[in-house]
Amino acid sequence: MKPPVRAAIVGATGAVGSELLAILEQRQFPLSDLRLLASSRSAGRVVVWKGEARTVEPLDGASFEGVDVAFFSAGAERSREYAPIAVSQGALVIDNSSAFRMDREAPLVVPEINARAMNGARLIANPNCTAIILCMALAPLSKLATIKRVVASTYQSASGAGAQAMQELLDQTADYLAGRSIEPRIMPHPYAFNLFSHNTAIGEDGYNGEEAKVIEESRKILSMPELALTVTCVRVPVLRAHSISVNVEFDRPVDESEAREVLLASQGVRVVDDREHNLFPMPSEASGQDETLVGRIRQDNTNANALNLFVCGDQLRKGAALNAVQIAEALMSR
Ligand code: A2P
Repeated sequence: MKPPVRAAIVGATGAVGSELLAILEQRQFPLSDLRLLASSRSAGRVVVWKGEARTVEPLDGASFEGVDVAFFSAGAERSREYAPIAVSQGALVIDNSSAFRMDREAPLVVPEINARAMNGARLIANPNCTAIILCMALAPLSKLATIKRVVASTYQSASGAGAQAMQELLDQTADYLAGRSIEPRIMPHPYAFNLFSHNTAIGEDGYNGEEAKVIEESRKILSMPELALTVTCVRVPVLRAHSISVNVEFDRPVDESEAREVLLASQGVRVVDDREHNLFPMPSEASGQDETLVGRIRQDNTNANALNLFVCGDQLRKGAALNAVQIAEALMSR
């Protein structure tokens, strides 16, 4: 794929789609054409991009003619149906849904970690947002020593469930403060001033769908198929950045200063670890940022081989749209 590129965004009216538009503009991605696709409900809607009005078109079987790269962010069902059509019409597909992530033929890519996995693939899967943010912290640490086991607990924002879930959090917060009753619509439980176990189905093993994705996808991204990784995923009333508390056990003692050093030198990571001022990664700081924030780096007081960390990353940017655009940038240079 050589610039300038003809691109399409499937799900252009959604939370990730809107962020894709912003990031393509901010990074001056070299585009000669940009097609905005969504459901028939949004057909005809006008979106202003780079000061120009563009009309949203309904997604159909002819949407990808003449398209070089198609960003999919309209859910797994749409990806399953239309991504193969896009590929057959000559487009490279960067798919933000879960549809193809664990397929053997589909590379699952975080460019800072495994850009080489893309090889000659025509469909590249963009990983789960939490897996991306977790791996941004784990990959540098894995250079220090073999990672034996990871225990992660997440604090996940509304944006991961889409634009309507973000609106629900805003509406419920206003309702709560006004003393009105709260009626959950998108999320299964009251969301304002509350938190709950992640709203994906629970499997037979007791793990929910999000936890299973984080475990399987992190193993694939890090090329550590046997990694012992256990995860608890929770929704918190934050709009758009995910946070993760992580305990990492190595095969030897790793000093916290070694960890800090390797994280400081890592592309896409910012160390926020100011004990004096009690200043550590916060979702409010991570929101709108490209970097994954890592801090609270400290020895596990129960295990000399283990460290604790706290990680925050913008779910819509590094967790989704930014990672997808970085994949497209890497594809342009291959
Ligand atoms: P629409 O706005 O027309 O419903 P989010 O993740 O923020 O909920 O966004 C989902 C995105 O996927 C939106 O752009 C939405 O478009 C799009 N989408 C949902 N269903 C379809 C469909 N059947 N065909 C095409 N796009 C769809």
